[in-house]
Amino acid sequence: MSALDPTESEPAGSEGVEETAARLSALRSELKYHNFRYHILDDPELSDAEYDRLFRALEALERQHPELDDPDSPTQRVGGAWLPADFVADMLPSVTHRVPMLSLENAMNPQVLGEWIARVRKGLGVAEEDTETTVPLSVEYKMDGVAVEAVYEGGVLVEGSTRGDGVTGEEITQNLRTIRSLPNRLQGADIPPRLELRGEVFMTLAGFEAMNAARTAVEGLFANPRNATAGTMRQLDPRSAASRPLDIVLYGVGSTEGIAVDLESQTELFAQIARWGFPSPPFHRVVTTLREIETIYREVEAARDSLPFEIDGLVIKVEGGELRRTLGVRSRSPRWAIALKFPARQETTRLETVEWQVGRTGALTPVAHLTPVNVSGVMVSRATLHNPKDIERKGVRIGDYVIVQRAGDVIPEVVKAVESRRDGSETAVPIPTHCPSCETEVFYPEDEIVVSCPNIHCPAQVRGRLRHFASRRALDIDGLGEKLIDQLVERELVRTPSDLFALTAETLADLDRMGQKSAENVVAALEATKERPVARLVHALGIPHVGETVAKLLVAEFRDLDLLAVTTPEEMVEVDGVGPEIAKAVAEFFAREEIRAELAVLKSAGLRWKEEGLAPAETPQEPTAEHPFAGMSFVVTGKLPSLSRDEAGAMIETAGGKVSSSVSKKTSCLLAGAKPGSKLVKAEKLGVEVIDEEEFRRRLEG
Ligand code: IVH
Repeated sequence: MSALDPTESEPAGSEGVEETAARLSALRSELKYHNFRYHILDDPELSDAEYDRLFRALEALERQHPELDDPDSPTQRVGGAWLPADFVADMLPSVTHRVPMLSLENAMNPQVLGEWIARVRKGLGVAEEDTETTVPLSVEYKMDGVAVEAVYEGGVLVEGSTRGDGVTGEEITQNLRTIRSLPNRLQGADIPPRLELRGEVFMTLAGFEAMNAARTAVEGLFANPRNATAGTMRQLDPRSAASRPLDIVLYGVGSTEGIAVDLESQTELFAQIARWGFPSPPFHRVVTTLREIETIYREVEAARDSLPFEIDGLVIKVEGGELRRTLGVRSRSPRWAIALKFPARQETTRLETVEWQVGRTGALTPVAHLTPVNVSGVMVSRATLHNPKDIERKGVRIGDYVIVQRAGDVIPEVVKAVESRRDGSETAVPIPTHCPSCETEVFYPEDEIVVSCPNIHCPAQVRGRLRHFASRRALDIDGLGEKLIDQLVERELVRTPSDLFALTAETLADLDRMGQKSAENVVAALEATKERPVARLVHALGIPHVGETVAKLLVAEFRDLDLLAVTTPEEMVEVDGVGPEIAKAVAEFFAREEIRAELAVLKSAGLRWKEEGLAPAETPQEPTAEHPFAGMSFVVTGKLPSLSRDEAGAMIETAGGKVSSSVSKKTSCLLAGAKPGSKLVKAEKLGVEVIDEEEFRRRLEG
């Protein structure tokens, strides 16, 4: 539908009134439909960014044509007229807010915020040239959840409601009562006869991941913690809300009638509600200049990925009472507050095809090829789908509209399919039966998450192993880049790393884009490689679970590669930082016939094999870049989205941490997947931090 394309609402010089009216009407119904999907079904078809663009397009068109005004337009109602005319709400009882719950105007960047500050100053009658007078502004996190009102009478929680359209919301008292951080009864003194607090219910990322991981293909995944929160809050059975990881912060108040204490400024409000026992947004500061807000914006945005919950911006509020009253409110939003948004991290686009890439271990990874889309300033055309189970879980098909997400430096990923946008032409993603590189039949054990190519001579694997062997952090072979490796493999000049050392300048000089000089340089670089520390060689071998850190630990202990190759797992676990998973992987690796043969050739090629007089390395007790989990003890529980528990265990050990089987006070962190069971309960009881796989990976990367 044309209304979906916001660019079409640019002023069209020659357009007649009827066309404009038709376009307005299309945009309005379009928005109502999306409001419905978002607010009622908790299953939006558009990303927030797309919705915002549509909304702004309507606003712009309405500004150009005030004569085509419609009181029922989504822009005119407090929260947007989000119910289609024929929709009958038959689920939750409705609640009319005594004071409407307003929404916020959005500023997409600090510059727009500057304009808002100027308007605020003007509204308060401060002269433009008056630099002495400053307006105190409260800056808080904009929590990405669901706005609710909690009403206390005589200090007791009597009613909870969602914001709904701002005037009328849905009654969710029972569900609200299940949130542990929300007091059922006010603490302390000055209990008012009636208190209407407003805030945001949200879900931690860990909670969200665990909840999604436990959902079946039929139930479908939630796209993000906010959708999951909204879905949970509207559950009719409070027992299901109770089992979900909801949290709340309070940041506002409805009617202040009959309240004796000061709730007028944001600072007073937070101080008072804290005395009553309420949590408020984890970040709150009072500033007076745009510059300060810009700094906070940059800092918070940089830290956004490491927060355990989602925020989608900052909320800037004029601090106090009289100033707010002077500024007043508009129909949808107050003039005294604004949201300064961060770039959206999710967008929808089309999944064009799925390519299977073969890594050096033989694992086949599905990579989604997408219609390019701009996600928070970066064009995304490829995204990972992790593994076949992940494809199944997300229910994606080729041709689907999918939600893609990028956060920080992590590889973009496909979140889920937007099923309601299917037209029937979509096809299942084929899971390969044969390796796309060497055509050997792949194996895909029932209980495993990865499909693997078993052929160790598979060109893709060979290329992957050679690239790893030569990479900067491994043996760092100068001049041996990907293109050269590809040629060497293609011409069957090299199959294993040891073949590299038999290359001559003559052979190399014959290759494309290689002169005599560069060929000689590569030979010299290979020669230099022979003197690299043994730990680098051990890392370069590509032993499962053995990265730079473990390689160093092993070499520090055993010193001689021949000795390491015959060490038993029992002996290996004696090394601090080497757990049973790693030990097993190392021993299995060295037991392989072809590895022994390869090692023999490498040794005779003259690679450094032994370290003399090396002090045994110690795993630090404090986390470092190399050992982010040093000194930490982990417990892993539940089903993780893309890792087996063993894999996670090995990763923890590699990062310097320890894995134990039961939660105690000494546990630093519980890594929890779906159906975490009693370990989660125990962790919560003991106040042990709980993280999900995504957070785990983030911390591993430092
Ligand atoms: S104040 C009249 N403060 O953002 C002021 N809202 O886009 C109304 N939100 O509906 C809201 N964190 O759901 C306020 N610290 C915060 C907030 C916050 C998140 C949400 C809230 C509101 C929406 C507006």
